[in-house]
Amino acid sequence: MAVIETAWAKLNLALHVRRRETDGYHALETLFAFTEFGDTLAVAESEALTLCVSGEFAGAAGDGEENLVLRAARALESGRGAALRLEKRIPVAAGLGGGSADAAAALRLLNRHWGLGRSVAELEAIGATLGADVAACVRGVTVRGEGRGEVLTPVSAVTGVPVLLVNPRVAVATGPVFRAWDGVDRGALPAGETLAVAKAARNDLEGPAVGMAPAIAEVLAWLRGLAGVQLARMSGSGATCFALFGDEGAAVRAGAGVPGGWWGCVTRLRP
Ligand code: C5P
Repeated sequence: MAVIETAWAKLNLALHVRRRETDGYHALETLFAFTEFGDTLAVAESEALTLCVSGEFAGAAGDGEENLVLRAARALESGRGAALRLEKRIPVAAGLGGGSADAAAALRLLNRHWGLGRSVAELEAIGATLGADVAACVRGVTVRGEGRGEVLTPVSAVTGVPVLLVNPRVAVATGPVFRAWDGVDRGALPAGETLAVAKAARNDLEGPAVGMAPAIAEVLAWLRGLAGVQLARMSGSGATCFALFGDEGAAVRAGAGVPGGWWGCVTRLRP
């Protein structure tokens, strides 16, 4: 029984916002992808349910009851205890779904640890009650998301594609970025091979996010000027942007040159 689970960072290879719903959420069409890079969540036996957070972004994530790891653990309604340790490497409020990935990792890990026998579909349904991205994070493979992002359809894999993540170290809250969207439906996300669709698509939140955090435009311009870049775009509501490369060497060279003051990480896409 594994006692460690990775909370893979989430990318939106594309994100088309179609309309604002009456509940304030937005109907969208997105391509979720996941990186080998992520947080790690470990579990040990304990009478009580506890969480200890370490790592570069521990302070921003917090270890209180509102942490999505504890909310996910409680949502499993096992009545059991566990000592959870989260190594927080994913920047917080960064468009990488860090909290959602942690919640999803907690659902997968505790389902095994407690022997609950919940199916992936059941975990996804529980995850969807915790946040719009959590169902996709439970699956952890490249997938198309519709509705609020929780209606999932398989797409072709992108295994091993080298990727550079860059964040200007500006925290961006998701809600305000969605609320700053101009309401213009720029069209559906097409179907087809994942990377071809991604290249033909957009992130409709780039404009509103750049309006709130102009450094995002600097990151995008820097990424788009790198040698060997196949696609550079903002993820989610920002501020993290990603660049996909054709070969690992180009990604590593680019990663070595990330300007001081920005956060950067070279990794690969998962299936
Ligand atoms: O579901 P989650 O808590 O991750 O969403 C954070 C915020 O992002 C929501 O409160 C909402 O303002 C916005 N959002 C949205 N439409 C979506 C997903 C998120 O407006 N499909």
